[in-house]
Amino acid sequence: MTGAFLDPYVTDWLNLLLRWLHVIAAMAWIGASFYFVLLDQSLREPKSKDDIRDGVGGELWEVHGGGFYHVKKYKVAPPTLPDHLAWFKWEAYTTWLSGFALMVVLYYFNASAYLIDPSVADLTSWEAVGISIALLVAAWLVYDGLCRLLVERAALLWALILVLTTVAAWGCIQLFQPRAAFLQVGAMLGTIMAGNVFFNIIPAHWELISAKEAGREPDPTPGIVAKQRSVHNNYFTLPVLFTMLSGHFAFVYGATRAWLVLILIMLLGVLARVFFNLRHQGRTIWALPAVGAVAVILLAIAIKPDDSGGSSGGTSVSFSQVAPIVEQRCQPCHADTPTQPGFSSPPAGVVLETPEQIAARADEIKTLVSSKAMPAGNLTNMTDDERALVVAWVNQGASTKG
Ligand code: HEC
Repeated sequence: MTGAFLDPYVTDWLNLLLRWLHVIAAMAWIGASFYFVLLDQSLREPKSKDDIRDGVGGELWEVHGGGFYHVKKYKVAPPTLPDHLAWFKWEAYTTWLSGFALMVVLYYFNASAYLIDPSVADLTSWEAVGISIALLVAAWLVYDGLCRLLVERAALLWALILVLTTVAAWGCIQLFQPRAAFLQVGAMLGTIMAGNVFFNIIPAHWELISAKEAGREPDPTPGIVAKQRSVHNNYFTLPVLFTMLSGHFAFVYGATRAWLVLILIMLLGVLARVFFNLRHQGRTIWALPAVGAVAVILLAIAIKPDDSGGSSGGTSVSFSQVAPIVEQRCQPCHADTPTQPGFSSPPAGVVLETPEQIAARADEIKTLVSSKAMPAGNLTNMTDDERALVVAWVNQGASTKG
């Protein structure tokens, strides 16, 4: 599992196609999930006597796309089962499968560049991949076990989920590159979400159908459990989406105590869900987004990158000192034709070959280099002294003269 496990150009295409699929499936899954939560919370008492007799518990009138829709929710099941029933399950399965495939192609096949940071934990590729997969499985088993034990204790269950997610975030930061650690935590929560659909929510639907077909009362337990899991999934969506986007934000995953920052931002996502879920029920609490906004400002102040070392001991740093560092530590990947095995094109389209290209990205380079997000996996063995020099050069104005 070195850089050349798959041809880099093949990897590029798999990356494109799988990512495209993953985003589309996730949009369909989360879109349906949001829609059904909104629907559930907007239902009104049915008006028609026939509906009430048939066991309709709530109804909603909607207008969308040039037409009126009239949706009814039955308390248990309709008097006769329809021939055609929409299920909403492949959205979830496709999201998980394409996401896992992406992780294999990008992170597992190229673990030394994307997953491992020897200065964090000196793992072999096989160890890192094994730990990552084991954590995905463990996340599901532990979560599922806790949910079974604590069916009746919703508040305690939420507290434990928060504690365990925090432990997972902290642990992953001790094991992987911070960027990969964020993704790993998101993948663990995403696995739990897909597991909820596969092992609980869809089987509960089967129980409803088979009970109806057998003419018996359905066992209420699977439905109650499925509802609980579905509520969990609803609150997991925004935190998971953040982890999936976090790779673009080095100032976040590169922060000191990144695990804490991750948890705090995930909580902001939960807060947003709480706000909207209450709003759909008719309770708009503006204090919630206000708290969120204050939290964002405090967090932004707390993790503002440290500019010290800017003077580099008072001596000024010239471009002639920085250029060889960039050439040696960055250009193997960030060149029109990368020489680093496993890269067929400059990653993220970033080329750092001419003085202009380097100067144009000076601020970004400073963030990435000081947070150790770059060089990826520190494959080019950049030293701390070199990092300090580059940061000082940027702080002094990033001039390419001299
Ligand atoms: C081993 C290969 C490798 C080396 C060496 C490397 N990078 Fe990167 N770099 C990457 C990869 C991979 C990405 C794309 C991350 C992604 O997919 O978002 C990237 C992305 C970037 C980006 C764009 C950030 C973004 O998220 O869009 C910048 C800027 C960057 N690197 C700067 C540097 C600098 C500066 C150095 C040298 C100190 C460096 N890189 C060394 C692999 C490397």
